Amino acid sequence: MKRLILTIAVACIGALQVDAQTKLTLQADKAEREVSPTFYGLMTEEINFSYEGGLYSQLLRDPTMQELGGGQGGQRRGGQGSRPRYWTLSDSTAGNVRVVGTGGINFNLKKYLSIELNRQASIVNPGFWGIAVRPSTTYQGDAWLKGNGRVTVGLQSADGSVTYTSQDFNINSNDWKNYKFTFDTASDMQPNINTRFFITFHDAGSYALSYPTLFPKSAKTYSVKSDWFRTDIMDLLRAMKPTFLRFPGGNYLEGNRFSERFDWKRTIGPLTSRPGHRSPWGYWSTDGMGLLEFLCWAEECGAEPILGVFAGYVLGGDYVEGEALEPFIKDALDEIEYVTGGTDTKWGARRAQDGHPAPFKLTYVEIGNEDFFDRSGSYSHRFMQFYDAIKARYPHLQIISTQDERALRGNAENPQAVKVDVIDEHYYRNAEAMFRAANQYDSYDRNGPKIFCGEWATREGDPTTNMNAALGDAAWMTCMERNSDIVVAHCYAPLFVNVNEGGMQWKSDLIGYNALTSFGSPSYHAQCMFAQNLGNKVVPMQATGVPTVAMGRGEPVPQLYYNTTIDTATGRLYLKVVNIGASAQEVNIVVEGVKVKGKATVTTLKSARPEDTNSIDNPRNIVPATGSVKASNNFKMQLPAYSITVVAM
Ligand code: AHR
Repeated sequence: MKRLILTIAVACIGALQVDAQTKLTLQADKAEREVSPTFYGLMTEEINFSYEGGLYSQLLRDPTMQELGGGQGGQRRGGQGSRPRYWTLSDSTAGNVRVVGTGGINFNLKKYLSIELNRQASIVNPGFWGIAVRPSTTYQGDAWLKGNGRVTVGLQSADGSVTYTSQDFNINSNDWKNYKFTFDTASDMQPNINTRFFITFHDAGSYALSYPTLFPKSAKTYSVKSDWFRTDIMDLLRAMKPTFLRFPGGNYLEGNRFSERFDWKRTIGPLTSRPGHRSPWGYWSTDGMGLLEFLCWAEECGAEPILGVFAGYVLGGDYVEGEALEPFIKDALDEIEYVTGGTDTKWGARRAQDGHPAPFKLTYVEIGNEDFFDRSGSYSHRFMQFYDAIKARYPHLQIISTQDERALRGNAENPQAVKVDVIDEHYYRNAEAMFRAANQYDSYDRNGPKIFCGEWATREGDPTTNMNAALGDAAWMTCMERNSDIVVAHCYAPLFVNVNEGGMQWKSDLIGYNALTSFGSPSYHAQCMFAQNLGNKVVPMQATGVPTVAMGRGEPVPQLYYNTTIDTATGRLYLKVVNIGASAQEVNIVVEGVKVKGKATVTTLKSARPEDTNSIDNPRNIVPATGSVKASNNFKMQLPAYSITVVAM
């Protein structure tokens, strides 16, 4: 007998208008549409302190001395004198610190901290809203220093009264010299983030400091870069079962100006060869998360990259095309070679030198990001220049356009007809708009380009989403899944937010954290439930007696949203239904074409109110619960109010 797994996701809002018997019929033997093998994935960029103060494990804030000016508030551009914002003296009467802009350790890192002391004193750094000091943990770091005398580095309480761990060494050079350090914490201490990093200089004198680092040693090693990623956040990502990682943006790919784009060649190699750049989201990126780190992140999650290449347009509106675009096209070809080339190629050999000899699998390359904002009309030219060059060398790659094909197709001014493999569509909506869009792809042209839904979110909840957003997301995901023959991939954005005040630039994010802990929003759990229960073909469904829910000023919307997939190798069925009603709904489930028998596993995400949410202080307020139901070819289920339920049978 065929073993079936039936997965039902249900979400519920508002008053019911109809209460006829609600029936969902699954035509399990009529599954034809293929589910894309790269369907559920991740999108990332440096926003909301995603890497600096997020996934990237470097614990020290502003190690390259870019942020100037004291006080709290936002991150201002450099130029407010020379007073460092995050590197201060523990006792301001003990001397003076300032950022100097010439004479750094190399051409990439011109800035450094000059320290003049009239007696023993410490330089301190607060990390990103604290530094996670955990028991039984090894911390490794290094610093470039000039000067002579005894030095102590370590971690202590924010007021300096308790030192948790430290190491002493002597420095002995008037030129730049690199010093490495390692220290451990005791097993009986409590995890703490009310902390700071310190470097104590025991003697009066002149000193200089450049590019200090501090990383906790990771307990888990999945790739050559595991120590660079925060373990708790990486665990949350792996649970999402992503098949791809779209990077490096988003706006972060483009930057506000050419000098602030993601210039991948300046993000590889040792940290001291990465000058860093300002992100369009208002703060400095050291590029510690560079191209190889993104690739290893994807590898750690069992995902492949979806590589966004800079396409000659920046957010400020400046752009280049024609001959002036050629250097950027060469950069993109070199980048693809770095990702996929053998070690007998120039950039493949460079990747091996950087620590990863094996090439990465690559299927999709995206040209730019949201180029529909380019009012110059240059994208069709720029796109074609990239398309032709990439296809000539890598004919198997699928090229993603960020503009709708219709805008790229020939017109009087641009008679060239553009062939697009995939179009990247972005949707940021409220829950009501998601419910109303839940049939959007049903009518898409099956002969046109494929769709990559490269950014989408139900934007309700702040900083992370609430249950209502999860209901909108779930409804939208049933639509994309049902149409996963043309929606070849999709990913939520933004993925991360540091929940501290000043950490968020874009609200309604998927995963929140501070320096110590992280949590998934209800939207995060909905995505895990959907991604963990997916077949390889879409099962046609019919629904009768689905009640409607009054909403906004428009027509009422259906109370239920649903989709089913089947794993044709195992015969397992995965049914997902979304119920947005304010009260529980009974559903009659009829499965045709295959035999269904036995216990089904039921996983439910629900809350009493749609505005309920998770937070750093209450991270597990809304999490999936698992139970079971007796399944057959015709059985009934009770779907809770405001819920997303997964049933596997
Ligand atoms: O996800 C936030 C931003 O939204 C992205 O950087 C950009 O691509 C979109 O406008």
